[in-house]
Amino acid sequence: MGYEMDYLNRILLGDCEEVLKDLPDNCVDLIFTSPPYADQRQKTYGGVPPDRYVEWFMPKAAQFWRVLKPTGTFILNIKEKVVDGERHTYVINLILEMRKQGWRWTEEFIWHKKNSYPGKWPNRFRDNWERLIQFNKQRTFKMYQEAVMVPVGDWSKERLAKLSETDRVRDESKVGSGFGKNVSNWLGRQMVYPTNVLHMATECYNRNHSATFPIALPTWFIKLFTDIGDVVLDPFVGSGTTAVAAARLGRYYIGIDINEQYVQLARERLSSVQMQLLTLAESRPSYSADERQDAQDEGAHETS
Ligand SMILES: C[S@@+](CC[C@H](N)C(=O)[O-])C[C@H]1O[C@@H](n2cnc3c(N)ncnc32)[C@H](O)[C@@H]1O
Repeated sequence: MGYEMDYLNRILLGDCEEVLKDLPDNCVDLIFTSPPYADQRQKTYGGVPPDRYVEWFMPKAAQFWRVLKPTGTFILNIKEKVVDGERHTYVINLILEMRKQGWRWTEEFIWHKKNSYPGKWPNRFRDNWERLIQFNKQRTFKMYQEAVMVPVGDWSKERLAKLSETDRVRDESKVGSGFGKNVSNWLGRQMVYPTNVLHMATECYNRNHSATFPIALPTWFIKLFTDIGDVVLDPFVGSGTTAVAAARLGRYYIGIDINEQYVQLARERLSSVQMQLLTLAESRPSYSADERQDAQDEGAHETS
């Protein structure tokens, strides 16, 4: 097709639906994004009425589908807004529409915000978590589970000390998936696979953007779903957090935002990250890819 790869490692200005039309098919390994939530923060960057959210989103999702490789993953950070005292159903409706467009709703992760402010509401408690919905184009996709293993922790001392009979034999999955959890397999192991609940603090410092997520969030998903040299897209990149995480992990990034100020902010953040990485590489000429990744992970990864 003769496409130049000049869209890589760029923060692009514009409506992602239009900007993405300049990208070739199947060129992205991971889409990680937090779109504007329905009707919220209208003053800051324009919200979308909850009842129109799905029709606003779907043409963009069609472009996401086109640019994502068949082995790629799309992670959507979103949460239902409360409208008239009840949760609006736009996220549920969106999932159903996405399935009609061909996406598989593979999994859902929960981001538990460890440090949310206390508060009191008349008919609900403070909102302490957000969804990260995983969509895929096909059943098999790239996944590097070892990259996000966690220390087994105190659980092992108590739980593994008193193994029941069921724990000692293969406890076949009730849903007939062919997988099971033979708990005794984990005896003596230092590291285990994590759950689908991520305990991460929000970042409170001001990045001149009102809706940033912590860098630990994209970092975790980038490690899980991509390899070094893969391409990560955030079509609603805001202050550039996903792109910064990707660059630090040795992945290519593509960031898009409709707001010129945020694009400027993201570009500044990225150029300072590129400078840091360059200095790092120059000070250690014999740095291997693995060592570089370990060094980049420090500080970028937050343990739960
Ligand atoms: C929730 S914020 C993303 C924040 C980001 N995750 C961060 O850490 O800074 C959503 C962003 O989407 C941008 N946006 C809204 N509509 C857009 C569109 N059609 N195309 C591209 N960006 C858009 C907004 O300007 C805003 O910065």
